[in-house]
Amino acid sequence: MNLLLGLKCMFLELIVVSYDFMQSRIVGGYAPAPHSIKYMVSIQNDKGQHFCGGSLINKYWLLTAAHCNIMVIVAGDYSLSVYEGTEQFFTPRFLVPHPEYNKSTNNADIMLIRLQLTVPVHLNSFVTVAPLPRQGASVSEGRVCRVSGWGYTSSTGAQIPATLRTVKVPIVSAVHCNSSQSFGGNITANMICAGYSAGGKDACKQGDSGGPLVCEGRVYGVVSWGNSCASAKYPGVYTAVSQYRSWIDQTINSFY
Ligand SMILES: *[C@@H]1O[C@H](CO)[C@@H](O)[C@H](O)[C@H]1NC(C)=O
Ligand SMILES: *[C@@H]1O[C@H](CO)[C@@H](O)[C@H](O)[C@H]1NC(C)=O
Ligand SMILES: *[C@@H]1O[C@H](CO)[C@@H](O)[C@H](O)[C@H]1NC(C)=O
Repeated sequence: MNLLLGLKCMFLELIVVSYDFMQSRIVGGYAPAPHSIKYMVSIQNDKGQHFCGGSLINKYWLLTAAHCNIMVIVAGDYSLSVYEGTEQFFTPRFLVPHPEYNKSTNNADIMLIRLQLTVPVHLNSFVTVAPLPRQGASVSEGRVCRVSGWGYTSSTGAQIPATLRTVKVPIVSAVHCNSSQSFGGNITANMICAGYSAGGKDACKQGDSGGPLVCEGRVYGVVSWGNSCASAKYPGVYTAVSQYRSWIDQTINSFY
């Protein structure tokens, strides 16, 4: 199969967890009602430290950013520091980063994670799957979306005991985001931007890397990169999931 040739399936043994890559975090948001964002997962290292967010997209697959390293996945969580009895723990069977992912440009920063088949996710009142947009669907400028994630204290791996947080941010047009006033040509057609142009308020965006930006009930964005938070000039930049819907479907189907 041609498709498979292009896929770089990295197996767990090959993955080196890097402790020093910068984390983005929810700023100016609030704690949602416990277990109200049920497709949200915490991606953790082998020490149980939260690294990235992700979205459950079916019983066997997660969506996250290509730059995330994964050891353990926790679904049904709310407070990372408290065992609530709703958590489901998984290990990945393999990871499928997008074959065009480019670390220096952040283009195609998207990755699928196949969970261990022996233990599929149990969907219940704490854990659900997130709907995705169709291929090529766009979300208009100004549309208010929601990004969620678990905060992170530093790039060294220390972690605040924190519940999930969420913040609403409007979509910023690619023209504005890509302008010399903002990211100056570094925005590709595979990215979407969201944030407040006024800045200053407690509305600085950014969720944990890999986490979902949800618009109209669908995961339109995966938290990817940005500049320092709370800046009026630089909105958060997300991988545009609708550019990858066909890839997602083909990848998932090719592994059945
Ligand atoms: C990433 O993008 C840069 C800039 O377009 C390009 O020079 C480089 O070759 C790309 N790297 C990979 C691994 O594709
Ligand atoms: C665009 O990307 C280049 C290469 O990574 C970087 O040097 C430059 O500072 C970026 N520009 C902006 C406005 O972020
Ligand atoms: C952003 O600007 C760069 C440089 O002009 C261009 O190559 C790229 O296609 C632009 N991105 C979008 C989404 O139009």
